[in-house]
Amino acid sequence: ENTELAKFSLDNVSPALEKAYKEIEDLFTISPEVLKTITAHFITELQKGLDQEANIPMIPGWVLDFPTGQETGDYLAIDLGGTNLRVVLVTLKGNSDFSFTHSKYSLPATMRTADADDLWDFIADSLEKFIKEKYPGGCASDLPLGFTFSYPASQDAINMGVLQRWTKGFDIHNVEGHDVVPMLQKALKARSLPIEVVALINDTTGTLVASMYSDPETKMGLIFGTGCNGAYYDFVENVHKLSGDLPTDIPSGTPMAINCEYGAFDNERVVLPLTKYDFKIDEESPRPGQQAYEKMIAGYYLGEILRLILVDFYKAGLIFAGQDDSKLQQVFIMDTSVPSRIEEEEAGNTTVIESIFKDELNISTTAAERAIIRRLCILIGTRAARLSVCGVAAIAQKMGYKSGHCAADGSVFNKYPGFQRRAAVALSDIFGWSCKLEDNPIKLTAAEDGSGVGAAVIAALTEKRLKAGLS
Ligand code: GLC
Repeated sequence: ENTELAKFSLDNVSPALEKAYKEIEDLFTISPEVLKTITAHFITELQKGLDQEANIPMIPGWVLDFPTGQETGDYLAIDLGGTNLRVVLVTLKGNSDFSFTHSKYSLPATMRTADADDLWDFIADSLEKFIKEKYPGGCASDLPLGFTFSYPASQDAINMGVLQRWTKGFDIHNVEGHDVVPMLQKALKARSLPIEVVALINDTTGTLVASMYSDPETKMGLIFGTGCNGAYYDFVENVHKLSGDLPTDIPSGTPMAINCEYGAFDNERVVLPLTKYDFKIDEESPRPGQQAYEKMIAGYYLGEILRLILVDFYKAGLIFAGQDDSKLQQVFIMDTSVPSRIEEEEAGNTTVIESIFKDELNISTTAAERAIIRRLCILIGTRAARLSVCGVAAIAQKMGYKSGHCAADGSVFNKYPGFQRRAAVALSDIFGWSCKLEDNPIKLTAAEDGSGVGAAVIAALTEKRLKAGLS
């Protein structure tokens, strides 16, 4: 990765700034050895979460079948994301084929810290609009709905989920500790909507199942987005914390989708190479002490990490001398699109980086400062990509996968420049492969739409079990 940094010369950088920068470079460079150590600890932690209540939740998702690609029918799906609610009407056609239509409804800015009722009303109102538009004459029978809820929710069955805690900066009151399905169902009933919530699904589980529906090589469903998490199929007998609780019609050998919630990895802070910026992010968050791994790598935080380093340099008098720092001091003023857009610009060009700082932060930058900022973005983006795949490598090693596709989705995977290549390099570092990156036996591949198709397939699998009288 040194070649990436070398494009941005430190020639005109003052010795003091260079020294401060080099310290960051050291802190943010993650060697193959460190990746291997983290992965080894990760495997132990994943297993612990399957054995008992532990730091990594390893939540059984109660998807107890592999999709065959032959599922059919019409299903509604909703996905509550960080910035909008997506409503999808999916038609599964069998033969791994499907079609869908969808609408997005943007979450009011105040939603992150609103009250539970505001959330359920918003979702139900959006669904009402969607249904009126798609079924102007009303619909003949109740529509089954798969609810993609991308937060850690404990499940004793597929059609329920008790929110353990919000992640990704969400802080809506009176939801934690409650089953979210009846709350949503009540708001739907109040509007007499012909909808039945049949499945609650994590986005990673949806991604896993959607991708398996069309690609049998799929081994995992991964999100590298606002948050970071993964799901895979284990077998019920390996989920030791369930032993004794399983109905007799779920015999050993039955697959069980597991939503790892591995964003919580190493909350104990044993192996992660945390920097003071990571500690600061944690202190600023509404849930300090949680999601330690996610806070180093996920899209919700990368811009903020950059901001914190720049604030530090500014305070030390190393950059932006005499400039107005009032914008720069605003927590979360830079989202991940900032480092992402900066990295997107070709080395040698400076239009984008100059205008981001001038127009969005009211700061004029010098050439030396821009070189430093560009390098910082590379360091933050590379660290994120490299650490991100430790969870993937850990699942693969735990399950003994020698090859396969790890279906990935999310804004960081899809949009952050270089993420996919850096992640592939890191996987190769961990496994010690010597082949070309594109020949890596375990690969991150672009996922199918988890919260639409995945939710629909899961709803279909659930209906099939119900009809067969299975738990
Ligand atoms: C956070 C959530 C998790 C979700 C991930 C990606 O880690 O806790 O449920 O899968 O973000 O959206």
